[in-house]
Amino acid sequence: MRIRPILLLCFFLLLSGCAGGKKELVIGVSQCSDDIWRSKLNEELSLAAHSYGVQLRLASADDDSERQMAQIRALVAEGVDLLIVSPNQSHTITPAIEEAFDAGVPVILFDRKIDSDKYTAFIGADNVRIGRILGDYLADILGGQGRVVEIQGLRESSPAAERHKGFAEALAAHPGLELVASDYGDWLQEGGARVMSRWKEEGLAFDAVFGQNDRMARGAWEALGKPEGLPLLGVDALPEGGLQDVLDGILTATYIYPTRGDLVMKLAVDILTGNEYPRETMLESALVDSHNAAMVLMQEHEITDQREMVEKVSAQLDSSLSEYNTQRLVLYLLIGLTALLILLFTVSFFFYNRMRRFNAELERRNEELHLLSRKLEETTDAKLEFFTSVSHEFRTPLSLIAGPLEHVMDTSGLDPESRASLGIARENVDILLRLVNSILDFRKIENGKMPLRVSRFDLPVAVKQWMLGFKGRNLRYEGPESLMVEADMHLTERVLFNLLSNAFKHTTAEDRIAVRIASEGDRVQLSVTDTGEGIPADKLGLVFDRFYQAGDRSSGTGIGLALVKSIAQLHGGSVGVESRVGEGTTFTVILPLEQPGAEILEAEDAGKYQEQFSSTYTDSGAFRRETEQLELMTDTEEQRPTVLVVDDNESLRTFIASLLKDEYRVLLAADGKEALDVAGRQLPDLVISDVMMPVMDGLAFCEALKSQLATSHIPVILLTAKNMEDQRAEGYASGADAYISKPFSEKVLLSRVGNLLKSRLQLKHYYLENGTSNASERENDFLSRFRSYAKKHLADPDLNVEQLAAEIGLSRVQLYRKVKALTGYSPVEVIRIMRLKEAEKRLKSTDKTVAEIAYEVGFSSPSYFSKCYRELFGILPGTSR
Ligand code: FRU
Repeated sequence: MRIRPILLLCFFLLLSGCAGGKKELVIGVSQCSDDIWRSKLNEELSLAAHSYGVQLRLASADDDSERQMAQIRALVAEGVDLLIVSPNQSHTITPAIEEAFDAGVPVILFDRKIDSDKYTAFIGADNVRIGRILGDYLADILGGQGRVVEIQGLRESSPAAERHKGFAEALAAHPGLELVASDYGDWLQEGGARVMSRWKEEGLAFDAVFGQNDRMARGAWEALGKPEGLPLLGVDALPEGGLQDVLDGILTATYIYPTRGDLVMKLAVDILTGNEYPRETMLESALVDSHNAAMVLMQEHEITDQREMVEKVSAQLDSSLSEYNTQRLVLYLLIGLTALLILLFTVSFFFYNRMRRFNAELERRNEELHLLSRKLEETTDAKLEFFTSVSHEFRTPLSLIAGPLEHVMDTSGLDPESRASLGIARENVDILLRLVNSILDFRKIENGKMPLRVSRFDLPVAVKQWMLGFKGRNLRYEGPESLMVEADMHLTERVLFNLLSNAFKHTTAEDRIAVRIASEGDRVQLSVTDTGEGIPADKLGLVFDRFYQAGDRSSGTGIGLALVKSIAQLHGGSVGVESRVGEGTTFTVILPLEQPGAEILEAEDAGKYQEQFSSTYTDSGAFRRETEQLELMTDTEEQRPTVLVVDDNESLRTFIASLLKDEYRVLLAADGKEALDVAGRQLPDLVISDVMMPVMDGLAFCEALKSQLATSHIPVILLTAKNMEDQRAEGYASGADAYISKPFSEKVLLSRVGNLLKSRLQLKHYYLENGTSNASERENDFLSRFRSYAKKHLADPDLNVEQLAAEIGLSRVQLYRKVKALTGYSPVEVIRIMRLKEAEKRLKSTDKTVAEIAYEVGFSSPSYFSKCYRELFGILPGTSR
């Protein structure tokens, strides 16, 4: 892993940070006294310790042996690495030093000794020699004659005994010298004064005094009343002590008692660091009297100055060192911090990378899923495409089976057995056709090409009628007797048909099926409940999916329920299903009661749809569906031509009507305005109008009639009393088709009317021949508009006459009458002829099959196409080639 090197680096840095803090050595110093000689020594020790980088623990016993022992033990307990001891008294201090030594703490005895050799090393001056030199010096200045007194240091302190020994030895060499008294002054100035005062009191006579240190000598001098010229000797020779006293003439001579803290510390460090060292070190020194005191003092001052300088430098060094240490610490902190940051960064980077890899993996999987679902979608689409193509392929042969089958069944003389067999065949062809149509419809809805033909109808009435087609089960209806809804009646029937077919498939004769209708606010709920096998809970969510078949529902195509859902959604509704295995299933379709914004087909049309679509599923005429859709306009009216008679003269009006009524249906109007109204509503086949009339005369009426698209084709015969050329011209200018002068003969009138209407009979022929009307240019203009719209939508089997009429600006009835009047054919027929003619053209110019061409030109049933083709051209489409 990549974090490991970083962790190691941090560890290393921390270690190196600690490396500077190697354990400091600690040296304990136990001084027996606190005086200027000891102070000087302590300063030297401190300086040296500093230079060696060791720590000192300085303690003073203040001339108290008990206290010193306690101090030594405390230092040992503290764990000092080495002890430097100047024992107050040899015998008394020995046990404490032995203990320390035995405990493994190296002990340096300095200046004074103990009674045992349990110490590591000794360093100090040779006190016997000092005593001897001073004894010899005194003998010298006294000329070998005289009485001498000695003030010793502390009893049992080794320098006191040794100095006395040397001094006594020196005196002994001179028989003229006598040591008349020797007593202890305890190394103190008061001690010296005390001893001398006693001797003075005692009246002791002497010629010279030897004080074992300068302090006691000065005390004695003071006790004697500061005499001048008395030979007075001391030891130590400190600049501010004995040395100055020599210069001042108080002391005769003194002996430099060396402190040499530097050498003591060197010895200590050598012992501690394992270097070789001498066990006994004797420090050399010298005597000072009036001859050399000034020089020695000078040297001492120099040494002091230098020491101060060294201390200053050392202090600076210390501060630099501490600064350096601080900086080093800051540096370590910074390094540590940097390492931490690097570590954090690395860890973050590591996790970021992992996250990225994880995200990439997630994305990859997502993509895979997308790809899979796209593939699935594509597969499903391909499957649907395939089914659609197959359905198209099936529809032609199925229609070709259905047509002849029907034809054979229509013929009489069939024996009952054959009829029954043919009945089964026809029933199954119907089933197949329905399936094929379901798939095609489903596809159409999915592709958004299924228009909603909304009508207002009574749903319960329709539902009950549709239910008649399902028999053989305990089927019942529950719900209101009447509920008006706005919906596509045909598609609603498909919904019920599919739900009932599904229910029948999954129930037995013992089961019950209920169709229920319930209105809920602005919605209606249509449900089909069965007591059949039920659908497992985990499959419920899938039943509306395309091609899904729950369980072993092998009898279905898996398209029916999907179609139900699509139809519901097309209406802005929804579907639902509830089921329990072994108890049954309820499918529910919820539809809006109204379709706001949708064009509502008229009740009459809706009725026709109802009739037509019901038949789709109740007889074998399914294949005729699309064509019949165009046959909305039926010739239910009287077949006789209608003539509108317009005259303000009532008796003339009645007369003309009486002439016509046997052959024609006659409409009457009293003036042009009324006639215009009647003509607009009734669209007569011909108009006979007087010219001279109140309100609106014949010319204005004729002009108005001819200016309206709906009525412009109606032939007009103008009647006038005058027989004047200019009026005739006026009459023709107004658009009149014929002109009859009053009084007219009955024969002339009837023959004019007859002729004009007869020319209509030739229309069909003319139209078939020329594709236009033999009427005016204006009418042909209208026809070509009609044709061009129809041509654009020729391939669409659902081509809608309603839309076509609206496009041209007429009502459906107006369009029908006008087209019929101009061509002799209904709009549907005109379109069919156009389709057939187009088909004829294509049959001649391409290698396509009859069925293919039938579909191409908007027939949804090739058999019906063949039938129509034969009607128009007299031969079957295949045989014309
Ligand atoms: C200092 C001192 C000196 C003397 C020495 C002997 O404490 O009293 O004056 O020379 O000790 O140990």
